[in-house]
Order: sequence, then C-alpha cells, then structure tokens
Amino acid sequence: MIRKIGISTGGGDCAGLNAVIRAVVRTARLTYQWDVVGIEDGFDGLIYARNLRYLTVDDVSGILPRGGTILGTTNRGNPFRHPVIENGQTIIKDMTPQIVENIRVLGLDAIVCIGGDGTLSIARDLYALGVPVVGVPKTIDNDLSATDLTFGFTTAVDTATDALDKLHTTAESHHRVMVVEVMGRDAGWIALESGMAGGADAILIPEIPYDIQKVCNKVKQRHLTGRRFSMVVVAEGATPVSGDRTIQAEASTSYQNVRLGGVGSLVSKQIEEKTGIESRVVVLGHLQRGGSPNAYDRILATRYGVAAVNLIAQEKFGYMVCLHGREINAVTIDEAVGDLKKVDANGEMVHAAEQLGIEFGRPNDVNGG
Ligand code: F6P
Repeated sequence: MIRKIGISTGGGDCAGLNAVIRAVVRTARLTYQWDVVGIEDGFDGLIYARNLRYLTVDDVSGILPRGGTILGTTNRGNPFRHPVIENGQTIIKDMTPQIVENIRVLGLDAIVCIGGDGTLSIARDLYALGVPVVGVPKTIDNDLSATDLTFGFTTAVDTATDALDKLHTTAESHHRVMVVEVMGRDAGWIALESGMAGGADAILIPEIPYDIQKVCNKVKQRHLTGRRFSMVVVAEGATPVSGDRTIQAEASTSYQNVRLGGVGSLVSKQIEEKTGIESRVVVLGHLQRGGSPNAYDRILATRYGVAAVNLIAQEKFGYMVCLHGREINAVTIDEAVGDLKKVDANGEMVHAAEQLGIEFGRPNDVNGG
C-alpha cells in the first residue's frame, strides 16, 4: 500500500526536470492521493535527510516551462563512495545503510530517481539493496540505449542549432571558419543532429575518429568554389584518428573521472594553420543544459513523470520509464544502464549527412574515398 513517495533529481541538469517533477506531483496527488516528498541535491539529500519538503500541487504550479530543477542536483555524489570527515581526515565511506534507514524513518514507500546513466546506475544498486526505486531517463547526451530519447536532448539540439544559425551569419560575413564545440560526452548525438539542422559543412563525432586533413580539404574546396566560410561542429568527445579525447580537467563525477573539453580549440587552430583561413571557436558548454524546455521535451518529460507514478502504483520497482517509437514503456534499470547508445557510424543518419556533402573526417582507407 503506497502512501508517500520521494522524488530526486541527480546528475547534470537539463531542460525538462521541472516538468517531470510537476507531472509526478500532480499524478501522485490528484490520481492516487499520495504525499510527495522532494529530496534535494540527488542522493546527498537522502544521506543527510536534509531540506526535505512536502510538494503539493500548488508548489509545482508554474514550473513546467522553467529550466533547471527546483530540487537541486549534483553530478559529484555516489553514496556508495561518499567522502566524509572523520577525526579530521577525509575518508570514503559507504553511506547506503544511512539512506536505507532514512527512507524507513521517513516512511517513503518509493523513490522516483530522475537521472542519466550515473544516477540510474546508483539507483539500480540501491534497488538491489531493497530500496523501491523507479527511474526516469534524463540527459542532453541522449546516450541511454534502452530509450529512444531522453528528455532534455531535443532542447539541447535546438539551442545548438540556434547558435549555429547565428554563427553562420558571422562566419559568412568575415569569410571565416567557425568551429562550434558541443557537449555529449562519448556520444555524438548533439553534434550530429544540430550539425544537420544547422547546415554544418563538417561534423566530428566520437564514433568516427577524424583525419583533420579531410576537414581542411573540405574547407579549402569550399573556399575555391566561392564559399569562403565553413561551419564545423565538433562533439566534445571527438578524437583524431591517432590520438585521444581532449581532456579539460580531471573530475570525479558519479560517471566519469575526466571533464571533456578543448577539442574545438584544437581543431580550429589546426584548420587555420593548415588552410591559412581564419578560424574561430565557440564552446557552447552549459548553455545546452539551461533554459526552458521546448514543447517536445515538456510533453516527453510530462509523460515520463505520469508513467513513473503509474509504475509505482503497479509496484514495478527497479524499472525505468522509456520511449519506444511513440509509446511510453518500461525496462529494468539494469537493462537501461547496460549499454551506452552511440551514433551508428554507418547508419542511415550519418550516410544521409554524407550524401549531403557533410564531412566527418573519415580517413581515406575507411570510406574508400
Ligand atoms: O552528461 C551531461 C553533460 O552535460 C555532458 O554532455 C558533459 O560532458 C558533462 O555533463 C559536463 O559536466 P559538468 O556539469 O560537470 O561540467
């Protein structure tokens, strides 16, 4: 018998988190008459049971179009390896017994965990400890294989496309190459989709290691035929054929130990050196995570929120809501975090882009070109 549920947002924020929170609260209150407790800052809020608050329908009024998350988030925390200070020293401790105890004391019958693969991997491990969780897939990277789409992705693509449209006009006016670095970690979805929507001349993605000479040839060939500017979209995880990802800094998030960034600068510098054509780089960074969700993400996030509450009503714990085609379904969280969804380097989308003349920097021996 469910009476009270908790809800938390974990990992990097994205557009649509508040839309899920609103949908969960409204469905839980209006359809099932359950209480909903908002948990702040991902799993940290459950470890310390701090700043917990009941969420009513009134509390979530007006948040549908708002970016970010009213509950706060963190992509640093992992309750299985949590830094605590004991006797003046920082030690790494498993805080999940604390979480299990707090859930019992608070009387939470289920927790809705909204997150990407890092947060959902933790949710899966908490479920194995007996915590009744259901998951909602979020990330601008769109790299969860068990769902066709994560919410937040299409808004990020819109933001990147809008930036490309704006940068196009300045590239054209100055006869420059404009290199635009986008996020996505080890998946090239944002780069591929925004590059296609924004009319890029070259798109570099992690799934296709690039030969910089191929990109330079494209830029030069355009120049020679009177198109004296070029737009190059580079995913932050793009790698040269003989080389590695460009790392901005060491980091310790719940899902990776490096912060990617800097490949756009590298590509821009190499293009300028090799072609003699002036080049500039723009790093879109966290702009892609912020702001109001587009209509599609508002609807997807809302449907996910309703479906997550319905999963709890059916006591389908350990499951995550997902999109298959146009239908909302559920898969086990374990299945959901098993594989990262990458762009198919030989799939229809990449081939369509290549048929349009978009350069991916494939080395000659790979495409026979
Ligand atoms: O996973 C979402 C994401 O925005 C990635 O695209 C990016 O690599 C990473 O998070 C950036 O994380 P942070 O907010 O720690 O800089």
